[in-house]
Amino acid sequence: MDSSHSKADPSRRRLLAAVAVAAAGTGAAALAPLLRAQTGAGDVVYVPTPQVVVNRMMTMARVGPSDFVIDLGSGDGRQLITAVAKFGAKGGRGFDLDDELLRQANENAKKQGVADRVAFIRRNMFETDVSAASVITLYLLPELNLKLRPKLLAELRPGSRIVSHDYNMGDWQAEESVTMQVPEKQVGNPGVSYVYLWIVPANVSGNWQWKLPGGQPVEVAVRQRLQDLEVRGTAAGRPMNVSLTTLRGEDVRISAAVELNGRTLRHDFVGRARGETIEGTVRTFDRVEQTSPWSAVRTGGRAASIDPSAGTR
Ligand SMILES: C[S@@+](CC[C@H](N)C(=O)[O-])C[C@H]1O[C@@H](n2cnc3c(N)ncnc32)[C@H](O)[C@@H]1O
Repeated sequence: MDSSHSKADPSRRRLLAAVAVAAAGTGAAALAPLLRAQTGAGDVVYVPTPQVVVNRMMTMARVGPSDFVIDLGSGDGRQLITAVAKFGAKGGRGFDLDDELLRQANENAKKQGVADRVAFIRRNMFETDVSAASVITLYLLPELNLKLRPKLLAELRPGSRIVSHDYNMGDWQAEESVTMQVPEKQVGNPGVSYVYLWIVPANVSGNWQWKLPGGQPVEVAVRQRLQDLEVRGTAAGRPMNVSLTTLRGEDVRISAAVELNGRTLRHDFVGRARGETIEGTVRTFDRVEQTSPWSAVRTGGRAASIDPSAGTR
């Protein structure tokens, strides 16, 4: 989407109006920086995330030395610079359409001593390959988050984290969310910030087979929508009673009651999904608790998409 098209966007006008209202409600001293502020370019105006919220976003995403961070709509660069300078991320990229903000962000990176690890580049976020990121930071608008959602799910590796200031991702349930009191915040919902975290789920849909510790066969069919799983199947030829499933990135958990030799035994399968296999352990609860290796193989039926809002995944 180009900036001329975007200027007519009602959400952009809405946020500009919010800035104007915030400015009108402030004293003359507070007004000056708002009037001097860059307005940004593209689909949403520039409003910086308060630093205290940026810090919380980094903590929530557990940013650390193995992370490469991409900020979509990078403004003055504070998200990415904080990720690298304060939280030790190995590097990242910020993308924006406002040349003056890009200049400021690159200048800020130099001042903070991280210009060798980050760069702020003029590019439309919807035309940017984000596959190198392990963490994505966003402060956009609800409709832009939703528009980005299929792209993020298609391009990011399973386990990548997405953190968003103020706006959610529609019916994609966040793994974590927090409401913060931020007295200095004047736009959006004044004085309050919301932070959301999502973890890109592995696609584990389809048919899987494995063996129980005693060698009995298990066959299950997994239906998946985002990180929600529905698991049905048989163990040792009898229906398996699945009581709990969770998927967090690549980490799968399935708890099931299995009938073996006339007794019902609980099995907790915990593993990591990598392509067509899941490797992990199974804990069984008989007279004593026992842990054994668990290895599952997909035998077919991988669904085309786990995101109902996308064409492909
Ligand atoms: C609300 S600001 C957020 C700035 C920064 N991420 C933060 O949290 O402080 C949104 C930024 O997105 C930029 N932007 C808007 N539409 C864009 C697009 N299509 N591609 C890249 N950047 C865009 C604006 O210029 C603005 O700087």
